[in-house]
Amino acid sequence: MGLLDKQVAIVTGAGQGLGKTIALEFAQEGAAVALLEINAETVKAVEAEIRASGGEARAYPLDITDYDAYAAAVADLLSWKGKIDVLVNNAAIAIYGTILTDTLDAWRKQISVNLEAVYMGSKLVAPHMVEKRYGRIISITSIQGFASSGDCGAYNSAKGAIIAFTKSMAVELGQYNILVNAVAPGFMRTPMSFVNGVDETTTPDFIEWYVNRGKVPLRRTGYPEDVSGTVVFLASSYCRYMTGQLLVVDGGLMSTF
Ligand SMILES: NC(=O)c1ccc[n+]([C@@H]2O[C@H](COP(=O)([O-])OP(=O)(O)OC[C@H]3O[C@@H](n4cnc5c(N)ncnc54)[C@H](O)[C@@H]3O)[C@@H](O)[C@H]2O)c1
Repeated sequence: MGLLDKQVAIVTGAGQGLGKTIALEFAQEGAAVALLEINAETVKAVEAEIRASGGEARAYPLDITDYDAYAAAVADLLSWKGKIDVLVNNAAIAIYGTILTDTLDAWRKQISVNLEAVYMGSKLVAPHMVEKRYGRIISITSIQGFASSGDCGAYNSAKGAIIAFTKSMAVELGQYNILVNAVAPGFMRTPMSFVNGVDETTTPDFIEWYVNRGKVPLRRTGYPEDVSGTVVFLASSYCRYMTGQLLVVDGGLMSTF
């Protein structure tokens, strides 16, 4: 028996990084997983990997900011499985710049992928969860939603808004047995941790400050596997009286000053 047996889940941004690991772990725990991802090549590979290990997955290569494409994927999933138990809003992009250097275009793009698509996905699945009187909406935000590195205001604004939106939906949907929670990772080694071609979790500054000096008390960067278990927990029956919460998975970083 897996922790997510007979569950049907959507994971956005499932082609690489955290989304891929969440999708693989969900499938391993018995869920059928809809993989929503803009990169057709990576998402097909994840679909193949899950199927090869005996799991159930269907790839939906699409841009989650395209409402009609997102709605068509939800409709297809419903005709395949008849229900949607879990939505993991994971996909995001980061475009670095400060208020002095960034552009309106970059701001709009990040708000569109990182926040508006979270709204769209939630809006598309919530009525079906209401119908079944069961659902889990889990959004991946970031410690940048409440503490800033000083170089990505639009990303941070979207991540902060996700925390407020999570609480808002938790209050609105609690009466239908739909739990809405968020997860805030700290530093994680994924393709996103590459900034200007350099993996920020491997630089000498990172190693000295965050690892050697213990700014991250667990003295290492995080990996997708460090976060995916928390997402599995939130989707599983072990989580049943917790909603509107933010779980910070950062190796202790936010507990230091
Ligand atoms: N990597 C970190 O250090 C870190 C830290 C805190 C929070 N997070 C959050 O974790 C989540 C996953 O990040 P990651 O590090 O795995 O990132 P990543 O860049 O490695 O993966 C993101 C995935 O989302 C997909 N994607 C992007 N835009 C899309 C769109 N419009 N439609 C469909 N798919 C799209 C990408 O193609 C990619 O496969 C994000 O919400 C991110 O903000 C990451």
